[in-house]
Amino acid sequence: MDNIQDILRYDELLIFRLRALYEKFGYSNYKMSRFEEYELYAENKAFMPSGDILTFTGASGRLMALRPDVTLSIVKTSKDDGELKKLYYNENIYRSDGVEFKEQMQVGLECIGKIDVGLMGEVLVLAKKSLETVSEHSRLGISHMGFLSGLLQYESFSMMQKSEIIACISEKNTSGLRALCMEYGCSVEFSEKLAALSQIHGSFEDVACRLRELSINEEMNAAFVELEALHKVIQDRGTGPLSLCPADIYIDFSIVNDISYYSGIIFQGYIEGISAKVLSGGRYDELLRKFGKNAGAIGFAVYLDALSVEQRKQKDCSSASETKSINIALPKGRLGEKAYEIFEKAGYGCPEIKEESRKLVFENLETGIRYFWVKPSDVAIYVERGVADLGVAGKDILLEYSPDVYELLDLGIGKCNISVAVMGTVPLPDDKTDEPSPCLSVPLPDDKTDEPSPCLSVPLSDDKTDEPSPCLSGYLSPCPVRVATKFPNIARKHYRTQGREIDIIKLNGSIELAPLLGLSDVIVDIVETGQTLLENNMKPIEQIAEVSARLISNKASYTFKHEIIDKICEKIQHSKS
Ligand code: PRP
Repeated sequence: MDNIQDILRYDELLIFRLRALYEKFGYSNYKMSRFEEYELYAENKAFMPSGDILTFTGASGRLMALRPDVTLSIVKTSKDDGELKKLYYNENIYRSDGVEFKEQMQVGLECIGKIDVGLMGEVLVLAKKSLETVSEHSRLGISHMGFLSGLLQYESFSMMQKSEIIACISEKNTSGLRALCMEYGCSVEFSEKLAALSQIHGSFEDVACRLRELSINEEMNAAFVELEALHKVIQDRGTGPLSLCPADIYIDFSIVNDISYYSGIIFQGYIEGISAKVLSGGRYDELLRKFGKNAGAIGFAVYLDALSVEQRKQKDCSSASETKSINIALPKGRLGEKAYEIFEKAGYGCPEIKEESRKLVFENLETGIRYFWVKPSDVAIYVERGVADLGVAGKDILLEYSPDVYELLDLGIGKCNISVAVMGTVPLPDDKTDEPSPCLSVPLPDDKTDEPSPCLSVPLSDDKTDEPSPCLSGYLSPCPVRVATKFPNIARKHYRTQGREIDIIKLNGSIELAPLLGLSDVIVDIVETGQTLLENNMKPIEQIAEVSARLISNKASYTFKHEIIDKICEKIQHSKS
């Protein structure tokens, strides 16, 4: 027979190598059914990256699911007998990417039992060696949930507030963190600590001093001591085949996970030229507690699907990544021109871009910067997919699509608001006229009466009566509000927090036309000067969010090119001040 390595497909070869690696370290293969009771996932939704689950009714009438996750099944069946279990698996899982369900191959490793720092070091080494079976250019980022949960204990936050803060930390979004802290009434000192934590990126030696300064309570100190001990364990592995190159491991506190499941170290792996993380893991003792078990647990999963597709693409873009050039997606139009001026002022000009032409790609070989003109709403896609390392995107687009990117700087241009607006001259909160407000309702397309429809009216801000006026009763009524918008996710989130039922009408432009022609009751849209609303007899009644252009970065690009990206950010900030 030919060499088995020549016969295997690329993903099969990877599995073969990973299995050999884990077996060598004494891990045994764990095999399981692809079906589980749905209840297991319904009770632990926050543990999984995607909430959608494929279900079917089993023969006994029980609701079953096609397994979206392997760890939960392992934890459910593991005996709490004090014995250390070292397992690995290679199984298909079934997850939705938000559009459709996909069957994905996952290889992973779990340790359940007494977890000491030596074992944690072993798991980290295996995670890094797993990346090295794919490419010699890989990096493993490590964080510790103890820092975050210790810091968040410092102020009394609701669960919602915590998750908003954690989301900003995962984006390295310092302006967002400062805004949230101001909204929640936190001290400036606390706000700066959070911002500093989100920015930490570097070797343990580089960041140790800053980490010590940030530690303000026992939980954070314990996390620091554990990271320090782990660092020593990894260093002590010497220079043999199982040693790690210190430059390939870094500490980064924007690596976060669900605080109710993960309690200790967490980590993520990236491979150069692949746009998203290919490995994710951590210490998840809290999950064991939820199952009433005393053991500790640590593990990771390798996302093989991403690897086999992207590995082929990697060949095409390897030359660009080798030279460490930076690709920047700029939004076509006035905002993009202003954004380009910011880069030019910071020393990253590319004169050709200003020439009259229909070209879309411009390169300055001297600075190693390549600019693309991209449709504004597509910038985040180019960056998330790693075609662009950096991009300039409006906060409206980031709020609407929640791309998995870093939000490095608020560029302070393209300022506007996302607001709810209605027909008519609605009194704003500071409108003190005694004139009765005109009814705000608009007729439904088939409304033949002259009476305002109760469903379509909006509340008036300084109405003092207890009884809702006929004009107001509609807004208070159980009828869904018809909302026309380019931003369905933002609108849904806004009305969900108000407990209002809505009917979204997704439009692509000229949103102000919708209430004018009776298609909707309100709009959720961008208001910049307010001129479009004014000229169409409309007025804003609620502001949802302030918008401006942000510098965003692909997370894998930041991992491999962070020195250049940090330099660009520094120069931009310097040239603005
Ligand atoms: C945006 C927005 C409003 C208008 C607001 O539209 O959707 O219609 O600008 O600006 P103003 O407050 O300064 O009047 P855009 O120009 O993007 O065109 P669109 O209607 O096709 O989306």
